[in-house]
Amino acid sequence: MSYVVGRPCVLCKYGDCVEVCPVECFYEDSEILIINPNECIDCTACEPVCPPKAITAGDSAEQEFIARAAAFTCSDDKRRSKKEQVTHGPNWDSKLAGG
Ligand code: SF4
Ligand code: F3S
Repeated sequence: MSYVVGRPCVLCKYGDCVEVCPVECFYEDSEILIINPNECIDCTACEPVCPPKAITAGDSAEQEFIARAAAFTCSDDKRRSKKEQVTHGPNWDSKLAGG
């Protein structure tokens, strides 16, 4: 099962995750980043780089966020592979991000 972005990413979106993914399987919606479950290769690279620890292995993720990823339409215009492409939300905290 793929890795899953969970609740701490909602209205936050640090974007560190997208830089380290070797298969560029992160997508952005208005509230959260989404990992495409059909593209993730379970490499684990993204899990430690997320400042609020939003990313978990699928078997320990909340069902709501597994379902959200499964229902999301992963179109190329929403694919993110550079941090500058990600729009931070109101919960983004410069202290957690390291300035
Ligand atoms: Fe990408 Fe690896 Fe994270 Fe899957 S586990 S989203 S392949 S960085
Ligand atoms: Fe979200 Fe963490 Fe990535 S907050 S954008 S999953 S680095």
